[in-house]
Amino acid sequence: GKVGVLFGGRSAEREVSLMSGKGVLQALRAKGIDAHGFDPAERSLGDLAAEKFDRVFIALHGRYGEDGTLQGVLEQLGVPYTGSGVMASSIGMDKVMTKRIWSSHDLPTPRFEVLDAAGTSADDLRRVAAELGLPLMLKAPHEGSTIGISKVTAPAELGDGFSLCARYDDVVLAEEFITGRELTVPVLGAGRQARALPIVEIRAPQGNYDYEHKYFSDDTQYLCPAPLDAELTQRIQSLAVRAFNAVGAAGWARVDFMLRASDNEPFLLEINTSPGMTGHSLVPMAAKAAGVSYEDLCVEILASADL
Ligand code: DAL
Ligand code: MG
Repeated sequence: GKVGVLFGGRSAEREVSLMSGKGVLQALRAKGIDAHGFDPAERSLGDLAAEKFDRVFIALHGRYGEDGTLQGVLEQLGVPYTGSGVMASSIGMDKVMTKRIWSSHDLPTPRFEVLDAAGTSADDLRRVAAELGLPLMLKAPHEGSTIGISKVTAPAELGDGFSLCARYDDVVLAEEFITGRELTVPVLGAGRQARALPIVEIRAPQGNYDYEHKYFSDDTQYLCPAPLDAELTQRIQSLAVRAFNAVGAAGWARVDFMLRASDNEPFLLEINTSPGMTGHSLVPMAAKAAGVSYEDLCVEILASADL
């Protein structure tokens, strides 16, 4: 049947999505699938309905693509789509809601507070920094690709760090910084069939795995499978699957972790329900380590539309 690859869109991650979508489109075509690109930023929802796609591959990131709103439209149109449904998509797009759900399942996530973007004073910020410690992570809850995130290392930076995040959202997530190793685990499937791919460890220069390092620079080191002993690997992969199921994710997602240096305890940071598929991206890297090519990965994700 006719497959639509949705990419681009109007979120802050548009550029990333254009790269993801291009890769997915080429891969599906290479597999002989009748795939067509569709950019929701340039076309209307009427156009989307008129295309009469048999299923769509969502390669959009961020708002209006990853956050459940588009998933709702596709439900209304009766078009099967890849990845999570409406609710898991919107939970996954909200780092605060995700952490609340994980906490309620006794899954480990760094301590946090939620601050009003408009009504937080310098005193409030100092109190939060005293409670959660420095460095402190400040995050706009609804963004991706490290957009709207600041790592505050000194009290004098609290105000600027906060303002940066407050530009993107009504609330700002203040989160305890976990010193240690940065890991990510892709999960494929759904429910009891959900399975983790090999763990990727990210070693960015000075620990700054930011937008530039994610997509454009070559000085970040990726280790896959991450050099961890078998027991810890298994524990982290099983946590990733539980984290995936706790929010009701389906099809595919990528779960991000910090592994605390002092005691090797893993902490869940967030889940990405429509993760990057660019040449620099981590889901394809983990799939490759498991012997699954980029093309075969795309075909498997596409098949999740029928779950
Ligand atoms: N938000 C980016 C696309 C990711 O999680 O890969
Ligand atoms: Mg993210």
